[in-house]
Amino acid sequence: MEPTLNETHLMIQETARKFAADVLAPTADERDEKEIFPYDAVKQMGELGFMGMMISEQYGGAGLDTMSYVLAMEEISKVDASAGVIMSVNNSLVTWGLEAFGTEDQKQRYLIDLASGKKLGAFALSEPEAGSDATNQRTTATKDGDFYLLNGTKNWITNGSTADIVLVMAATDRAKGAKGVSAFIVEKGMPGFGVGKKERKLGIRSSDTVTLTFQDVRLPAANRIGDEGAGIKFALKTLDGGRIGIAAQALGIAQASLEASIAYSKERKAFDRPIANLQAIQFKIADMATDVQASRLLVWEAARLKDRHEAYGTAAAMAKLYASRTAVKAALEAIQIHGGYGYVREYKVERYLRDAKITEIYEGTSEIQHIVIARSLLGV
Ligand code: CAA
Repeated sequence: MEPTLNETHLMIQETARKFAADVLAPTADERDEKEIFPYDAVKQMGELGFMGMMISEQYGGAGLDTMSYVLAMEEISKVDASAGVIMSVNNSLVTWGLEAFGTEDQKQRYLIDLASGKKLGAFALSEPEAGSDATNQRTTATKDGDFYLLNGTKNWITNGSTADIVLVMAATDRAKGAKGVSAFIVEKGMPGFGVGKKERKLGIRSSDTVTLTFQDVRLPAANRIGDEGAGIKFALKTLDGGRIGIAAQALGIAQASLEASIAYSKERKAFDRPIANLQAIQFKIADMATDVQASRLLVWEAARLKDRHEAYGTAAAMAKLYASRTAVKAALEAIQIHGGYGYVREYKVERYLRDAKITEIYEGTSEIQHIVIARSLLGV
């Protein structure tokens, strides 16, 4: 473990911190309240290189490492976890997957615009009956000459209605189970592509989560990512990296909860002195800070393994499991420290709790992270 950051890392961290303070902070509460998607901010994130951070410059990306990505994710999510997930999906699930597994033609046609932030991407794996059980795909892609006909429904798709490009997993041969799933690039506006229900959510309300429907969408075979039957491996490998991004998002929420608690406890007086002088508050803050730092080290460790091209799936699962748990705990403690003020909208900590909860659910629930970690240890 090398905990030091290089000059590029520090510059990225500072740029993200400033962008979050100047652009996201002034509107984050209102966008949460009114469920408004941050179109302008996402455009600016593209211009800053934050929408394709790990993608090579030749494909429109910023050519940075995973460490830079998690530093930016933490800063953005500390202020606005909705912007964090929009960025995370485009970076780690869409652009990373396309650069790692796409053909040169797919990179030219899709990756350059996605990584430079000119277009936005979504990743469609989950279905009404395939959440944790991701291999149980009911959406089908039936071969028709040089095309596939795509039919089915995808649920809880982040960036679903705002995305220009969606990576869709579908069964090309249901009899083959996990080995019969393939991945495809689908363009918004293709005939038969439909955007269904917009979800009304507990948290990350400024992000876009919808159902997508596909009715005889005619996809060129050139839009298949990798071999026929390689879709589950593509999705799970891509999600290994996605989990590092979500762990960094959770870390940002936890850090925000800690900072709010420190500031409030110095300002709020009870029994004639700031509550920071009360041991009950000190212990909570000490525990929060320890969990936040442990989460950060797990996130950094997973990022560094990925940057060194070493196995990182288990480290990513550990980082996500621990950081998401920390985010929920820290936000709950922040509310407790703020007392009645913590329970109302004027103070941001109630949003932190609502935003934190999803980090224990999407890109693999905490139960799935336990399974991934246990399997790697036990070899079962
Ligand atoms: N990388 C590459 N391949 C992998 C892999 C990985 N990390 N994990 C498993 N595989 C391979 C396996 O080797 C296997 O292939 P073979 O048969 O050729 O060996 C195949 O994938 C199927 O794996 P399993 O047999 O282990 O499958 P399983 O049914 O037991 O499921 C699981 C494994 C870990 C539970 C997996 O299904 C999983 O991670 N589920 C959670 C899915 C998830 O994270 N969904 C999130 C949705 S996306 C989202 O939330 C995005 C958003 O919008 C924010």
